[in-house]
Amino acid sequence: MADGARQAVILAGGQGTRLRPLTLARAKPVVPLLNHPFLAYQLALLRAHGVSDVVLACSYRVDDVREALGDGARLGVRLRYVVEDEPLGTGGGVRHAADLASGTLFVLNGDILTDADLTAMRHLHEAHGSRTTIFLQPVDDPRQFGLVETGADGRLLRFREKPTAEEKITTNTINGGIYLIEAPLLARIPRDRPSSIEREFFPALIAEGIPAYGWCPRTYWRDLGNPVAYRAGHVDLLEGRANMPLSPPGERHDGSWIGVGASVADGAHVVAPSVVGAGAVLARDCRVGPATVVGDGARVGAGARVEGAVLWERVEVGAGAVLDRCVVGADVKIGAHARVGPEVVLESGAVVPEGATLAR
Ligand code: GDD
Ligand code: MG
Repeated sequence: MADGARQAVILAGGQGTRLRPLTLARAKPVVPLLNHPFLAYQLALLRAHGVSDVVLACSYRVDDVREALGDGARLGVRLRYVVEDEPLGTGGGVRHAADLASGTLFVLNGDILTDADLTAMRHLHEAHGSRTTIFLQPVDDPRQFGLVETGADGRLLRFREKPTAEEKITTNTINGGIYLIEAPLLARIPRDRPSSIEREFFPALIAEGIPAYGWCPRTYWRDLGNPVAYRAGHVDLLEGRANMPLSPPGERHDGSWIGVGASVADGAHVVAPSVVGAGAVLARDCRVGPATVVGDGARVGAGARVEGAVLWERVEVGAGAVLDRCVVGADVKIGAHARVGPEVVLESGAVVPEGATLAR
């Protein structure tokens, strides 16, 4: 499939260390985002830009990923999985997957949320005769990312992954984690040892003068790598800050989405924008929202208040409990009248006793 970048590799093999404890229970690429597995958003974006042949480069908890996404048919894409025996890093992961690829290839980090116009990226790549194009974004604090310097014409001049504290910072433009790469270039990456696309592949292309460009559009972008960013990503989508080609599951109702078979008792309020999962049960006089996601099969007790929170599947919130801007893993039980404060993250299966107060 040589024509115009219709294939993609998604790097989905990291351990999601910074997203713990959420990733102890589920692989990072499929943690829920508004009740869809995270990668469903990337797949929807790819599909919206004519890319429907996608290889997932996995190494950690691949069964979670398979269970959530299957063969991709439900999402309108063809998904194939390649699994590393030992993690091969971002370079080795792409190299391993590249056996199934040809022509021009999109490569995505499996943890970035964006509505970037991939068609425009493809046009820029072609117009410049670029062999590798990197999606760039400006950020306030670039040190935790890959720093990228470009010339006036957009050509890459320098790629420096996560500079040390002593190093002088010369740009706030970073690697946004989407690339267009001419597949034959990937033969440069060693096949059977771990390597880093950021520390090895990109700097080598620049050093050798291979045409490589940056593309820095004004668009929505966020790395969902830690729990604060993960919750903030939910709020962004609920408040309409991104133009995603995928809506939350459920029917639109007064500015919220109510899932199939959910029940909302008399006197219970869903304050928009919120998402209530399939089969969820909201008891009388509870208030859910704004900016809240209730997972499939979750139950919110009478008089409870849940605001700015993300609840995974089957969470049980006791009567009169108050949850404020927290993230609650699957099957957590929160006792009656307990209070859970901002940015608290509860591991799947946790039990919060009646009347307890949890703060960060
Ligand atoms: N298959 C496979 N194998 N995938 C991996 C492996 C591996 O051994 N290691 C990491 N990945 C995947 C992760 O799952 C993630 O989707 C992606 O590669 C990037 O790894 P992260 O661990 O999330 O890297 P980061 O967030 O610190 O930095 C990267 O992303 C930034 C943008 O969010 C870099 O690409 C930076 O340059 C970039 O700025
Ligand atoms: Mg990341």
